[in-house]
Parts: sequence; C-alpha cells; structure tokens
Amino acid sequence: METFIDLRSDTVTQPTPEMLQAIISAQVGDDCSREDPTVNRLEAMAASRLGKEAGLLVPSGTMGNLVSVLAHTHRGDEVIMESECHIYYYEVGSISAVAGVIPRLVKGNHGVLDPDDLKKAIRGEDIHYPTPTLIAVENTHNRGGGTVTSVEQSRAICDVAKDRGLSTHLDGARIFNAAVALGVDARELAQPFDSVMFCLSKGLSAPVGSVVVGSREFIERARKYRKMLGGGMRQAGIIAAAGIVALETMVDRLEEDHINARYLGEGLAEISGIQVELETVQTNMVYFDVGELGFDSVSFLKELEMRKVRASLRPPTGVRMVTHRHISRENISYVLEVVEEIAKSRSVC
Ligand SMILES: Cc1ncc(COP(=O)(O)O)c(C=O)c1O
Repeated sequence: METFIDLRSDTVTQPTPEMLQAIISAQVGDDCSREDPTVNRLEAMAASRLGKEAGLLVPSGTMGNLVSVLAHTHRGDEVIMESECHIYYYEVGSISAVAGVIPRLVKGNHGVLDPDDLKKAIRGEDIHYPTPTLIAVENTHNRGGGTVTSVEQSRAICDVAKDRGLSTHLDGARIFNAAVALGVDARELAQPFDSVMFCLSKGLSAPVGSVVVGSREFIERARKYRKMLGGGMRQAGIIAAAGIVALETMVDRLEEDHINARYLGEGLAEISGIQVELETVQTNMVYFDVGELGFDSVSFLKELEMRKVRASLRPPTGVRMVTHRHISRENISYVLEVVEEIAKSRSVC
C-alpha cells in the first residue's frame, strides 16, 4: 500500500491496537432490548462525561443530529442554526426531508454565533410563520475553520433560547477538541444545552459511532427515532468497546493535533501566494486559499497528490487540511516543503 500523508479529515483515523483488542473481547447482547452490557456502559460513561442523565449510541454523527432534531421538534417547526453548519451543509437536507422542519440560517463569525443575532432571528408568534422550537449550535465549527465557541458564549446563546422557550442542541462532533483548546472540562461546554451529539470516530480514532446525550426522557424519544431510522444495531457492543477506549485514552492527546495544526498554519502563512486566516486555526483544522497562485482547489490537490499528500477541497480555490493521530510534526514539515515547492513552481512561470 502506498503511504500518503492524509490530511483530508480526522475521519480517516484507524482504531488503536487497544481498541481492536477491546472489540475482540467485548461482551455483547441485543441492544434493541438494552441487553448489550458494553453499549450500556459506553452510554452511561458518555452521559457522565458530559454531565447529562443518559446517552444513546448511534452509528454516525449525522444520525445523532437527526434523532436529536426529531426528538426536539414537530413537523413544520423552524430550527435556527449557523448558515455554514454541518447539519445544514452536509447532512443531505435530512432535517427537512425526514424531520419536516425548516432551517432558519444566521451568519456567525467564522461559525461562532452572536446571541444578539439569534435574538433577532427568533420571530414572535404570527399566523404566517413556522414555530421556532430549537437552536442548533456547532462546536467546534467545521466550515468556520475548526473554531471554538467558549463556555460564556455557549451560555449566552442558550440563555437567549431559554428566554424565548426554545430548546437547544449542540452538534459537538468535536466537542473534545473544543474543550482541550479552551482548557475546560467538556461538561462545561455541554451544560447549557438540552442535548449534545459527539463523535467517537473522528479525532478520538474509534472506527464507528457517535453518542447523543441529554435528559433521560429526551434520550427515550431519541431512542425510538433511532429505531425508526434503522439505527438499532443489535450486538453493537463491538462498536461501543472501541468507543470506551476512545473516551478513556484519546481525549488528552488532541492537544498534539492542535499544536501540529498551528505549526502547519503558521508555516503556510509564510509561503508567498498562500492565504491563511490564522485566527481561525484554533483546533485541528487549517483552511487556506491558493487562488493568488493561479490554482483552483482541484488542480492544487492534484499537485499535492503527486507528492503523496492528501487534503480536501473547499472550491473554488480553498483547501482544508486536518491534523490527527497519524500526522506527526515531521509530516507537517514535509507538507510545508511540498507546498512551498508547488508555490514556487507557479511564481516562476
Ligand atoms: C461538525 C460535524 N457534525 C456532524 C458530522 C457528521 O458525522 P458523521 O460523518 O459521523 O455522520 C460531522 C462529520 O464530519 C461534522 O464535522
């Protein structure tokens, strides 16, 4: 197998040997009847880790967000969210197609919502309007650059929701990246929200799975929707076993990914023709623009690929690189050399 430095996403991470061992020795049962001890343990552990009453293992972050929206809303309701958020941008319109709700989009500052903008976006009762029932926040914010919403900002956003009688959901796919970057316990970031979804499968390196946490009563409703969507997984302990190892061993090391991302961002900023917004490099993502060099995203990625580096597209001229457990500081030094070489090849012709 050819080896690439794969910076497309933290979703490419492989399970650790300890995870594989845990999968082999996992005790399992039928989770649809709540008889899988390993799933039960992961769900309890996740709930406690985020300071909520109960948890629900789901196959993906996308399903976790969808069951949460279903459990918070009724068909025809309005859900307020950031204009570039994952739920709106990358989840195939599921909240409208399946949950029957309409998104109302509010522009954030690199994905971070301003409570005053939310206040303005929540419309009062009117026969013509859909009923706003939920605010969904994303932390860290993927398209914003992996940006972090602080504990204070999270509280202020949720206070606006509470004042107006709306529920709150956190797409915390990378909540542990946010917590590590802020130096706070993830419970503090989760606390103001009624529900939180986080992924085991990204920087935490588990092969599959996400968990939704919230009140016991909310999780019961979400569980029913998970079943409706075909997400009841029977002997899912083999997934949960790796998830437990992920929670126990993979959180603290995220700091290393952030340091590497910063090193990458600062190095790229020094290369003539590359535009990086360093203020958004807060966790494990680096977005940059190659338009000034005369490249579009696709042609730049081809140049990288020829030099055994992979990144992802943000067309027309943007590129995203994400650091994770398989990316070392030496890898980043190589990537910086490669980008400089590509940039120089453009500036001489
Ligand atoms: C912020 C965010 N939310 C949700 C998801 C969805 O997770 P999954 O790919 O497991 O469906 C992702 C995936 O990249 C994400 O970045």
